Amino acid sequence: MTAGAFSCRRLYVLLGDPVHHSLSPAIQNAAMRALALDAVYVAMHAWEELVGPLMRSVAAKGGGGNVTVPHKRVAAGALDEASEAVKATGACNVFWWAEEKGLCGDNTDVEAFRTAAEAVLGSSLTGRRVLLLGAGGAARAVASACMGANAERVDVLNRTPTRAESLIRDLGEPPMVRALSSPDSLPSRRYDLVVNATSLGLAAGDPLPIEPGAVRAEAVLDLVYSRNGTPFVRAAREAGLKAEDGRRMLIEQAAASFRRWFDREPAREVMYGAVGLLEDDR
Ligand code: ATR
Repeated sequence: MTAGAFSCRRLYVLLGDPVHHSLSPAIQNAAMRALALDAVYVAMHAWEELVGPLMRSVAAKGGGGNVTVPHKRVAAGALDEASEAVKATGACNVFWWAEEKGLCGDNTDVEAFRTAAEAVLGSSLTGRRVLLLGAGGAARAVASACMGANAERVDVLNRTPTRAESLIRDLGEPPMVRALSSPDSLPSRRYDLVVNATSLGLAAGDPLPIEPGAVRAEAVLDLVYSRNGTPFVRAAREAGLKAEDGRRMLIEQAAASFRRWFDREPAREVMYGAVGLLEDDR
């Protein structure tokens, strides 16, 4: 889309509820402009029953998009062709159209989490002990990435313990993934990485998912993001841990989405600039 023009040929949408806080339009429109693509990306508040029909109509006309909380599962169910990552997590966060296949979808959170976790740890997830807070769609992508990278152990702690158990069942009950029934045992354990995959931190005034000082860990990755860092990241740094918010994961999943849609590499520096992450932070 040329500067100042309000029409384009290809529409990309972010479907979620809420979506007003999302940085994805800034990231994707900056990357599309940098390559002078005739396309625009819009965040759209979507009701559940509209998710499948919107995905299908937008993609069939040459566009595509992303899906976010709380619709990733519904999106997975709407696909004609689901990737292995979608099958493993039951969640879809990117979609497009392919001739003869129809509505295709993938879960780019899995590879994006892996990149972001390696950045905060300074090396790979292989052999690492991970405390995973949450048991929704985002947590499934994290557990799946940890399994793929041969982490030593993933302990899942969730407000509703039965959801942690069903996450583990859905992943095929791998021995390295276990549910913790309460936070009481945390002080006696040691982790390399604590991941916040709950939605705590999205709303102002949310409590912290756990007190970072109460757990022995090297690093924290908060999947919630904010230009100024999140309260959990600030508390973790104050407790002496390395900590990052979810912007790197957001950029990595955005870059992976862009590649699915355009079969081209987006300009990373433009994407990082759009979320206020400096070159030095990368
Ligand atoms: P997503 O797709 O981002 O993972 P989700 O599937 O709605 O979103 O999952 C939200 C996660 O945040 C869940 O683990 C949820 O815990 P429950 O399974 O007990 O609902 C967690 N969560 C949301 N609000 C919370 C709160 N106030 N305290 C603790 N955990 C919370």
